[in-house]
Amino acid sequence: METMKSARKNVTAGDMGRDLSEQLKAVTQHSHVRAENTQLMLSYQKGQITLPQYKALLCSLYMIYKALEEEMDRNSSHPAVAPIYFPQELARLETLEKDLEHFFGSDWRKKVVVPAATLRYEQRLRKIGEESPELLLPHAYTRYLGDLSGGQVLGKITQKSLGLSTTDGLSFFSFPGVSSPHRFKQLYRSRMNSVELTADERAALLEEGVAAFEFNIQVFDDLQKMLSVSTETADQSEGNVVKTGLFPSTPIMQFTVGLCVALTTIGMGIYTF
Ligand code: HEM
Repeated sequence: METMKSARKNVTAGDMGRDLSEQLKAVTQHSHVRAENTQLMLSYQKGQITLPQYKALLCSLYMIYKALEEEMDRNSSHPAVAPIYFPQELARLETLEKDLEHFFGSDWRKKVVVPAATLRYEQRLRKIGEESPELLLPHAYTRYLGDLSGGQVLGKITQKSLGLSTTDGLSFFSFPGVSSPHRFKQLYRSRMNSVELTADERAALLEEGVAAFEFNIQVFDDLQKMLSVSTETADQSEGNVVKTGLFPSTPIMQFTVGLCVALTTIGMGIYTF
């Protein structure tokens, strides 16, 4: 992984005096640009996010935050986790459950579909929660500071793009416990900077920051592929576009499209639970 190597290369002895927050921002800068330029994020920025895209994104975010927050909860007294542990202000799992219920109905748990990249991201979070909890810090940084930076805007774009008249289904973007995202991000950075780390731990942590962005980029790319397969197969089987969801609504269509999707995506790996 070229990006991981460059993170290590970028951490020199001279950098060791710099704050962790500055270093994380610096080593992930290039990855941030790449994340912004994924098809999914470009659709967002153009105000062209569709309901199938949003629903698929919610499913993956659910898996990611479930793993991240369960591992953070379990390690909440670890010295590298405790300072950045803000469940009241930041926790997203319940908001995602609410949004999924809104779009998929009360049996949403049976309908959660994620691509292979999401499973790899989840497995990584579980592994570091078990083996090296200090590496949860760069993952929490990547997701939560990202949500607080672009989240408000993305929420408005989603509402407009999907033509939603209320904010139902958009709880993920709302942080009622954070009155000023700007001030909260300052607090979060100072908490990250208070964590004591050896030089090796710091280098590993910066490398994981780049990896965290990489996981997100791969999820976005996989979601895009998954969606093009499911819409194409739906197109072929019914001669029209799936308008309202990731999968069509009548049982026979669900079966036909499900079968096509299963057959055409065995190599790619799409998972239901
Ligand atoms: C539509 C795509 C995106 C746009 C337009 C966007 C835009 C921004 C902007 C304007 C900031 C504030 C920069 C600052 O305060 O200096 C920011 C910060 C940040 N973004 Fe994004 N972003 C996008 C996607 C992402 C993604 C996909 C992630 C990670 C999964 C991410 C993670 C972050 C992080 C961690 C920060 C905080 C950087 C820091 O201050 O250390 N962003 N983003």
